[in-house]
Amino acid sequence: MFAHLTPLPADPILGLSALFNADENPKKVDLGVGVYKDAKGRTVILGAVQAAYEHMVANEGTKVYIAPTGWPGFTDACQNLVFGSDLKAALEGQVAAIQTPGGCGALRLGFELVAYATPEATVWVSDPTWANHVPTLKAAGLKHQVYRYYDRETAAVDVDGMMASLEAAKAGDLVLLHGCCHNPTGADLPVEGWQRVVELMLRKGLVPFVDMAYQGFASGLSADAAPVRRVFEAMPEAVLSYSCSKNFGLYRERTGALMVKGQQKDAKAALTTNLAKLARENYSMPPAHGAALVTTIMQNEALKQAWMDELEAMRVRMVGLRASFVDALRPYGLDNRFGAVASQTGMFSLLALTPDEVKRLRADRAIYFPDNGRINVAGMTDANIPYLAESIASLY
Ligand code: LMR
Repeated sequence: MFAHLTPLPADPILGLSALFNADENPKKVDLGVGVYKDAKGRTVILGAVQAAYEHMVANEGTKVYIAPTGWPGFTDACQNLVFGSDLKAALEGQVAAIQTPGGCGALRLGFELVAYATPEATVWVSDPTWANHVPTLKAAGLKHQVYRYYDRETAAVDVDGMMASLEAAKAGDLVLLHGCCHNPTGADLPVEGWQRVVELMLRKGLVPFVDMAYQGFASGLSADAAPVRRVFEAMPEAVLSYSCSKNFGLYRERTGALMVKGQQKDAKAALTTNLAKLARENYSMPPAHGAALVTTIMQNEALKQAWMDELEAMRVRMVGLRASFVDALRPYGLDNRFGAVASQTGMFSLLALTPDEVKRLRADRAIYFPDNGRINVAGMTDANIPYLAESIASLY
């Protein structure tokens, strides 16, 4: 049965961690997997999460199953974050929400719902997009096409190119959009770009699928949610995958949610029961731990404020690192070439380097990031930025 299976290459992102850990160079720098790190390079548990955890240990009292839809109150908390309470109330009856094993689980479940409901749909993904988007949609049985997105000359979004590509989509196709902090480029759609894409999707009968994995990392919690809110207000049908991995620092707890807006009279019930069925067939119910922590935080004003303060501190630190990186390249005359890093948002930027240059930095300088040139800005520190700048300059 298994004899024809052969070993596969490592995952382009996760595979880097093993290489980095095995490297004995004392100067090594990890700009690979998207995890937030503090000024000392540590990924610590957020204070609000630790406090919620202590509350949970004292009060949980049982490990009995939770429902396939998840921990009570968790999806309400996520919807309040992403929609705000007014839009959440306005969408009541139209939106189904289900807890999922992380944002990746939400993507997979969302794609499975699409494949189940409309198997002929094509998913349109940005060029480039997160390395796991296409494998996940394919695993759910869907096919994809690519739309123009990142202009490597301007290091910004090619909105006209994106519109031109999406003109080729057909009614019922899905458009995968990054809610904020585009992964891997760090280049987000400008406000007028969102407006144009919404108008195009309405005119052509396309359905948006927004991947929201970094709320709070671009411009703040509400500002980052503004485009998603416009999409869910305007579109008759829409899908959203939500991740608490980054903004709550809950990576290993696999804490996410899927929200689906429908237009039929009993949309919420129809979508919730179909999603619960797909979840049951896949993994029965999601893990409780991370969702319980998020719910505890969001239902307690003091913990919620503490979390928002910590999230804002992470965001502000990444903005500062972006500026310091470009400043450090200035003496080498490279600040223009990589200048967009300072104005892009979130955890990632795509450096204008060839795969060969990326491999040289890895082999010669022990600087680790994926071959496509994506850097995790949060992996920079005041201590390693001069080394990064000098190493990049050594390529020229
Ligand atoms: C990333 O893009 O680095 C993260 O989302 C981690 C992952 O699963 O790829």
